[in-house]
Amino acid sequence: MSVLVTGGAGFIGSHTAVVLHESGRKVVILDDLSNSSTAAVDAIRSLTRPDLPFVEADAADSDVVGRVIVEHEVDEVVHFAAYKSVSESVEKPLEYYSNNVGSTIGVTRAMIENGVSRLVFSSSCTVYGEPDEVPVTESSPTGAVNPYGATKLVCEQLLVDVAAVSALDVMALRYFNPVGAHPSGNIGEDPIGVPTNLVPYLMQVAVGRLDRLSVFGEDYDTPDGSAVRDYIHVMDLAHGHVAALDSMVPHGRFTAVNLGTGEGHSVLEVLAVANEVIGISLPTQVAGRRAGDVERIWADPTLAAQLLGWHANRSLHEMLADHWHWQQKHPTGYRAS
Ligand code: UFG
Repeated sequence: MSVLVTGGAGFIGSHTAVVLHESGRKVVILDDLSNSSTAAVDAIRSLTRPDLPFVEADAADSDVVGRVIVEHEVDEVVHFAAYKSVSESVEKPLEYYSNNVGSTIGVTRAMIENGVSRLVFSSSCTVYGEPDEVPVTESSPTGAVNPYGATKLVCEQLLVDVAAVSALDVMALRYFNPVGAHPSGNIGEDPIGVPTNLVPYLMQVAVGRLDRLSVFGEDYDTPDGSAVRDYIHVMDLAHGHVAALDSMVPHGRFTAVNLGTGEGHSVLEVLAVANEVIGISLPTQVAGRRAGDVERIWADPTLAAQLLGWHANRSLHEMLADHWHWQQKHPTGYRAS
């Protein structure tokens, strides 16, 4: 039996594919390479097995997904395949709804038609919008503040509805802010174009691809005035997926679980640790608040500990050290410079 990883050539997908392989599972990757490359697949193979199956296809195509399920005797699915840029989602809402909801429909339909019931879905803490209270629990109010977040909420609701009338069991993992890389430095985050996320941006400043980091807002109601997030090592996240699959019970229907550390760190704190890890003081400038940003959010990870027996254990220092290791080994990502 095998586990199908849609979007398995992407940032979180690639790390999860490696950890799933290490858990003893046969891994099959399906990815349309719209935001990744065959070089990422090669790197995954170098860390797993040279013949790890890879299918280049759109997860929205339920016929193709169905054929992969049959051919590889798939009995569990981790569904990552989605667009993920908040700013791009504001400019291209139709593309975001079409791709993110479409791929979830395609995967779900193929699973039901072929009798596969265990699904782990890649969700996001963005479903909580601007929280009234922190930390957020899974029962905190949800509400999207951008089209990307809305697509995650729509997909969660779709899965609630489908699980209610089928044999599908779903665990939706609500990730906080993933950073870091595999300790080998062979796989990591490789944004196309200018990064919008904090850590990929500052790493590109560190290797000289960008001039300086803008700190978006130093007037928030937080201890140092910059915004606070729950940064989590991508390897901890990857292990969270294995724990989720291992702990799923038949007829569990739909369960949403936060994957975060439970600790908030400000932009200036992240910058200070990055400077320490990299060994230089990165050039920065203070900029205004970024539209759509929330002031502070971090997870209550209690449910993940209870249900999955999982908790994050890698520090912010380790996240930035591993991210820096990957960036140094691959200054231009998977592409040759
Ligand atoms: N930031 C800067 N300068 C930058 C980039 C970011 O100061 O150049 C700040 C942001 O303003 C924010 C913090 O760094 O306060 C983190 O920003 P990111 O863009 O790294 O992350 P977000 O919290 O905005 O969102 C990320 C992903 C979303 C995802 C969300 C929660 O972009 O896809 O985490 O999972 F939904």
